[in-house]
Amino acid sequence: MAEKLLEVRSLTTGFAAGQGLVKAAEGVTISIDRGQTICLVGESGSGKSVTSLSIMRLVEFAGGMISEGSIRLGGEELTTKSQKEMSRIRGNKMAMIFQEPMSALNPVFSVGEQIAESIRLHQRTNAAEARRRAVDMLRLVGIPDPHIRAKQYPHELSGGMCQRVVIAIALACSPDLLIADEPTTALDVTVQAQILDLLRSLQRDLGMSILLITHDMGVAAQMADRIAVMYAGVIVEDGPAQDLFEHPAHPYTMGLLRSVPSMDGEREESLYTIPGTVPSLHQLPQGCRFHPRCQSAMARCAVESPPLEGVGPDHKTACWLYDNSAGSKEVLSK
Ligand SMILES: Nc1ncnc2c1ncn2[C@@H]1O[C@H](COP(=O)(O)OP(=O)(O)OP(=O)(O)O)[C@@H](O)[C@H]1O
Ligand SMILES: [Mg+2]
Repeated sequence: MAEKLLEVRSLTTGFAAGQGLVKAAEGVTISIDRGQTICLVGESGSGKSVTSLSIMRLVEFAGGMISEGSIRLGGEELTTKSQKEMSRIRGNKMAMIFQEPMSALNPVFSVGEQIAESIRLHQRTNAAEARRRAVDMLRLVGIPDPHIRAKQYPHELSGGMCQRVVIAIALACSPDLLIADEPTTALDVTVQAQILDLLRSLQRDLGMSILLITHDMGVAAQMADRIAVMYAGVIVEDGPAQDLFEHPAHPYTMGLLRSVPSMDGEREESLYTIPGTVPSLHQLPQGCRFHPRCQSAMARCAVESPPLEGVGPDHKTACWLYDNSAGSKEVLSK
């Protein structure tokens, strides 16, 4: 049995709005084994970043609040930790990289100094040793001539190189878990592929787990051992990547897969888009949150919210289509 590194259970995170709390992630349950990559996918606004910031306990700094649930990293409960304890955990056990490489770097320090600073923050070393290790880190993330590059400033490096530097900074603490929130979206396609290759090889060599957030099913197909699909703040499907691609259960997942350009490079006539848009958190539909956009919606979908339940070994979905207990399966006319 693979060892679980991260176990998130029934996590709910909200933002204060008027009298109440607007829930941007609700009842989220995901887990990651050691050495595994899980991709969290879903359209813009579905709650992917809020979920990842909650796991890091950084959501509080963005005005969010974890109101329910549990987050365990290596068996340790994170929701009850103080921010002081969390900053130690963030420095030693988990790290996060964001979409915009440039904004994550400080323009007035050389990239070598920034990596060395991160090393000194996490490990007991003197300045000279940290500088030497920073050069090693640049080499590790595939930057040529690391001695020269270490002395350069972010504006002297390409976007792809800056993202490699950001990854080096994240890896300086040898995290067990790396959370990467759309790490390649700002980069062009070739560089994107190189960064994904880098993450894969670092994972293989360092044995860390990766939670990769993307809205791109193509990226998920290349990278994921497991995929969790999020829609309007809830997980609607979760399963082993291959199984989910071959047998998607949730109509939303089917829609996401139809909107990916074909993998064999053939050009499609016109790319499918799921009709409608993600609902506002202030006006969530009753019942299944996806039902207003769902081609297979039935009467009960507009009333009752479906639980996340098994449809195959280790594969779950939240959809009434797979519930045989009661009710008519007649599709609602639209
Ligand atoms: N600081 C905040 N205050 C209030 N609402 C927020 C805040 N941050 C996020 N939200 C809301 O939470 C919801 C989920 O946002 P989130 O950023 O997690 O989406 P996402 O899935 O990461 O989307 P994208 O693919 O665009 O990055 C959105 O409706 C957003 O408006
Ligand atoms: Mg996001």
